[in-house]
Amino acid sequence: MKKSLAGAGIALSLMLSPFQQAFASESVGELRKIDNVAHRGASGYAPENTIAAFDKAVDMKADYIEIDVQRSKDGKLVIIHDTTVDRTTNGTGAVKDLTLEQLRSLDAGSFKGPEFTGEKIPTFEEVLDRYRGKAGILIELKAPEKYPGIEEEVAHLLKVRNLDKPRNNKIIIQSFNFDSVKKTNQLLPNVPVGVLTSSRTHTTDQALKEFATYADYFNPSYGIVTKELVDKVHGLGMGISSWTVRTPEAAQFLIDMKVDAIITDYPDYVDPRK
Ligand code: G3P
Ligand code: CA
Repeated sequence: MKKSLAGAGIALSLMLSPFQQAFASESVGELRKIDNVAHRGASGYAPENTIAAFDKAVDMKADYIEIDVQRSKDGKLVIIHDTTVDRTTNGTGAVKDLTLEQLRSLDAGSFKGPEFTGEKIPTFEEVLDRYRGKAGILIELKAPEKYPGIEEEVAHLLKVRNLDKPRNNKIIIQSFNFDSVKKTNQLLPNVPVGVLTSSRTHTTDQALKEFATYADYFNPSYGIVTKELVDKVHGLGMGISSWTVRTPEAAQFLIDMKVDAIITDYPDYVDPRK
């Protein structure tokens, strides 16, 4: 185990609700908690990567919000999934070619429904400050190859907030760009990092062993998850968080596979009691 997972069992026993403690005392086997991660916020119910979606995730008691970080033309880190604003706002153009002021002037809510008109593209700092202590934050560096130096900028903004400290299990950084994950691991040795993939070519023994040299999490799309893969990842000391759950059946599949976290647009599909 590299960073985040050691001691999790002890922490877990201290965090159990009375309901969970009752359940634990009745169970002969191991009690496992699966983290419920709201993908781009509770994006099934509110416009993805907006304050409305993150607030909804907190209301639904998600353990984490997942956010996609990119950078404006004038160097501010912003939260948006696509590398253009076209799909989720009333504007057009690449995120990297628009200033923060231009990005903030866009309507990032109407695409989901008229009741969300006026939602804005949040900044990374705004999200850190609003949600730290309320929910974990799973930070995805989205297309970091377009934004040289973004790893240092993310590291700086975490450090000035003391969010880079050991045993901080509530901040995790992930990316599909493995070089970026490696670099982040060097910059923030106490912050857990994860690799994202939807490719079976990354599930070979050799590939998994290489990931385990720097990553705390191996985070695959659920289409490539098998029990054998989960066991291998755990055997190498990594956690496994899988995405993107948009049906109750997919949630149940991943619960059965015993993954550590489920990344979902619908937090209530993972834990209907919430
Ligand atoms: O957190 C996993 C997931 O966000 C990766 O895919 O395209 O939704 O960013 P994507
Ligand atoms: Ca993402």
